[in-house]
Amino acid sequence: MNTKLQMMLQLPKTMKAIVQNGSKEKLQLIELPLPIPAKGEVLIKMHTSPINPSDISLLNGTFATRPDYPLIPGIEGSGTVVKSGGGLIANLRNGKNVACTSTAGHGGTWAEYMVTSAMHVVPFNPKIGFEQASMMLVNPMTAMAFVKMAQQGKHKTIVNNAAASVLGKMLVRLCQNEKINLVNIVRRNDQAGQLLKMGASYVLNSSDTEFYSQLSKLSAQLDARLFFDAIGGEHTSEIIKAMPKGSKIVLYANLSGEAFSADSRTILQGNKSIGGFFLGNYASSQSTLNTLRTISKVKTLLQNELKAEIKQVYDMSQINTAIDVYQQQMTGGKILIRLE
Ligand SMILES: NC(=O)c1ccc[n+]([C@@H]2O[C@H](COP(=O)([O-])OP(=O)(O)OC[C@H]3O[C@@H](n4cnc5c(N)ncnc54)[C@H](OP(=O)(O)O)[C@@H]3O)[C@@H](O)[C@H]2O)c1
Repeated sequence: MNTKLQMMLQLPKTMKAIVQNGSKEKLQLIELPLPIPAKGEVLIKMHTSPINPSDISLLNGTFATRPDYPLIPGIEGSGTVVKSGGGLIANLRNGKNVACTSTAGHGGTWAEYMVTSAMHVVPFNPKIGFEQASMMLVNPMTAMAFVKMAQQGKHKTIVNNAAASVLGKMLVRLCQNEKINLVNIVRRNDQAGQLLKMGASYVLNSSDTEFYSQLSKLSAQLDARLFFDAIGGEHTSEIIKAMPKGSKIVLYANLSGEAFSADSRTILQGNKSIGGFFLGNYASSQSTLNTLRTISKVKTLLQNELKAEIKQVYDMSQINTAIDVYQQQMTGGKILIRLE
C-alpha cells in the first residue's frame, strides 16, 4: 500500500500540536483530539511550516484581532490532504500534496494535522517539494501583489524597507524581471551586501546618518512615489516627510512594534497618502480567475525568483528554541518546523 493511502486509511484519534495558552507565553507540545473537517473543509497531515513575522506578532498578542486561547499558531505550511469533509473542491483536493493556510476559528499549521477550508489549499508539483511549498502562499503572493500594484499605478520605481527579508529578496528578483526600479532599505551593511550580490541597483542603509536625505534625493531622482513599509514607528514618521510630493506609503507590517506620527500639513500639502496592505484582504478583493492566474505564475517562479532561502529546520519539540533563534536575527533565510 502506498504511504499516502496508508495515511488516509489509518487516521489516529489524537495528534501532537504546538499550543500557546496566553499572549507572550512559551509554547507547549501537547496531545489533542484529531480535528474533524466539516463540509467544504479538508483535514491535512502537516509536513512543514515556516516561522513568519506574523506568527511572532500573533504569539506576542499584537495581531489586530485578539485570538482565542489555547491557540495552535501557524499561518502557512504544507502537507497532504488525508480527508475531505465533503463538497466538490474538498473532494477534489483529497489525497493531494498541498500548500495551505489556516482558517480563522480553526487551529493553525503548527500541528501534526490541521483542518482548513478547501479554498485555502493549493496542490503543488512534486518538483517543488514540501519545504518550498510550505512558504508558497504568504510571501510569494505578497511580492506578486506589490509588483501588480506598481504596474497598475504606472510606477517605474518602488521603495521597500526591511528589504533583506525573504519577501524583499523575492521583490528584488521580480522587479529585475519586470524592469521596475527598486530602492531597497536595510539596517545593516551585511544586509546591503546580500542584496548587492543579488544584483540590486539601489540599496540604502537606514543606520547611515544621512539616510533620510539620501532617501529624499534618490526618490526624487527616480520619481519614486510608492513606498512599501514593513517597519512602522519613528522610521515611518520620517519616511512620510522624506518622500516626494504625491507619494503613497503602504504599511504592510509593524516590525518595530511602535506607532508613528505624522503632521497633517505634510500629508495634505504634499498630496501624500497612507494605506495598508494585508494579503487576506487583498486576496478577497481579487477575482477567482485573477487569483488562480497568480497562483499558477507563483508555481512557475518558485524555482528561482520566488524561492525562499532556508536557514534551519527544527522538530516540533524544539519550537521555543526555533523561535528564539529566529528572533535573534531574521535575515538569512527561513526557520522551518518539521511537523511529522
Ligand atoms: N501584510 C501582509 O499581508 C504581509 C504578507 C507577507 C509578509 N508581510 C511582512 O513582510 C515582512 C517580511 O516578511 P518575511 O517573512 O520575508 O521576513 P523575514 O525573512 O523573516 O525577515 C524579516 C526582516 O525584517 C528585518 N527586521 C526585523 N525587525 C526590524 C526592524 N525593527 N527594523 C528594520 N528591519 C527589521 C529583519 O532583519 P534582522 O536580521 O536585523 O532581524 C529581516 O531582514 C514582514 O514584516 C512580514 O510581516 C506582510
